[in-house]
Amino acid sequence: MRPAHFLAASFFLAVATSPAIADANGMMLAQSCAGCHGQDGAGQGAVPDIRGYDREAFMRIWEGFRTDERPATIMNRIAPGFTEAEVAALADYFSSLE
Ligand code: HEC
Repeated sequence: MRPAHFLAASFFLAVATSPAIADANGMMLAQSCAGCHGQDGAGQGAVPDIRGYDREAFMRIWEGFRTDERPATIMNRIAPGFTEAEVAALADYFSSLE
């Protein structure tokens, strides 16, 4: 991770006002995505790059997986396992990456 990215993510976490979101540390949660999406969500092989979606777009995509409305082979099974606060933290984290 480049220092600027780390700073941006740290800044967000420091200013997050909702206790639920502050508890769900996006950077920690993102570790469980790295096995497939690569370090920092850059994508690898057939698994897409997930950096740089804006927050709302990320959460819409996630909702699509969760409700099975967005075609998926894997994410539709992963998406229901995260709380709303965790998804918000992931959205904040990945939208802060390029
Ligand atoms: C077991 C492998 C695997 C893991 C773990 C995984 N993903 Fe995925 N992800 C995929 C695949 C494969 C796709 C393509 C859609 C599909 O077939 O499910 C995808 C698609 C996505 C997309 C949509 C990208 C696009 O441009 O359409 C997002 C957003 C996403 N994943 C986020 C995450 C996040 C956040 C995590 C961690 C909490 C995560 N994924 C963990 C395999 C994985």
